[in-house]
Amino acid sequence: MEILGIESSCDDTSAALVRCDEQGFFVVQEKTASQVAVHARYGGVVPEVAGRLHAEHIMPVIEEVMKDQKLPDAIAVTAGPGLITGLVVGVEAAKVLSYLLDIPIVRVNHIEGHIHSVFLGSHRAPLLPALCLVVSGGHTELLLMRDYGVYELVGKTRDDAAGEAFDKVGKLIGLDYPGGPKMSQLAETGNRSAINFPRPMLESSDFDFSFAGLKTAALYWLRDNAVYEDGIYRPANAGDFCASFEQAVIDVLVQKTKRAAALYNPKTIILAGGVSANSALKKNLAQALPSFDIRFPASGYSMDNGAMIAMAAYHHAIKQDFTPWRELIADPNWKVYEND
Ligand code: KG4
Ligand code: ZN
Repeated sequence: MEILGIESSCDDTSAALVRCDEQGFFVVQEKTASQVAVHARYGGVVPEVAGRLHAEHIMPVIEEVMKDQKLPDAIAVTAGPGLITGLVVGVEAAKVLSYLLDIPIVRVNHIEGHIHSVFLGSHRAPLLPALCLVVSGGHTELLLMRDYGVYELVGKTRDDAAGEAFDKVGKLIGLDYPGGPKMSQLAETGNRSAINFPRPMLESSDFDFSFAGLKTAALYWLRDNAVYEDGIYRPANAGDFCASFEQAVIDVLVQKTKRAAALYNPKTIILAGGVSANSALKKNLAQALPSFDIRFPASGYSMDNGAMIAMAAYHHAIKQDFTPWRELIADPNWKVYEND
């Protein structure tokens, strides 16, 4: 079966044709138009600008992916959660293609897409249940995947997402949006215990997270210790600052995942979402949970992409879980879990 995946929930317009069979999931063609350079000028994603750019790029990326290919068996599209200005573009494109070409649509939850990004190119089906740590610019959630399409919320952030905290703190020290990858690069050069940042909610008995206080602690530290010029804080050692901040985020993510693993005893642990590109996080998680089968996305598939949407759709498509185009709507608040 071949599935065309379409993703436009944030700042990447992405399409991919994915072949799904007993051998695994393989990307046949893919194309992503990133808006990062445009949003960097504003310091973050501007929803109206995002919507306009998605509208501009959606057909060219689909055309490029489908060039010289036969028609797919299904169209998978992110229907939520995310920015409504972006979601409607992908959803409407999928509806038009479905109507004109008579191809069924699978509506895909963006978070389920991230979770399935770890299976790209793999022929090893995960043993379930899987404990999933999804960390992105908009989400920080611990989920228990009991079956395909069946997710239970274990814990989530009460305020900022982990990626959002990286981006906002990166902005304070003058890093362009998104600051996360640049902070983790600088962190490689620094001392992780140079600054003793708080580990919010590490001791709480639940599995929730909070990163707003850590962000404020980083701001206060900069106010007291860094030079402020042209609206930017310049710490004497940016590497130490980034490494200490990154380690505080990682410690909370890893410890909570470890405690959840002890309680739920999953057969697989999945780390996904944009922040799963962070190599220190992957290393720390693997060290903390040595006896678990831990899956990460392959390089290049942590950030939003159409391939992960096609992969998540496969499990719905084989059950004929399609949505008629007339009934398909974008839902910016669609939760992947039911217990909340
Ligand atoms: O999943 P994603 O592409 O978009 C959302 O669904 O939000 O995630 C983007 C987020 C951004 O906040 C970005 O800064 C963060 O992932 N990110 C990282 C790294 N690479 C991407 N954060 C920390 N370290 C990284 N290496
Ligand atoms: Zn995402």
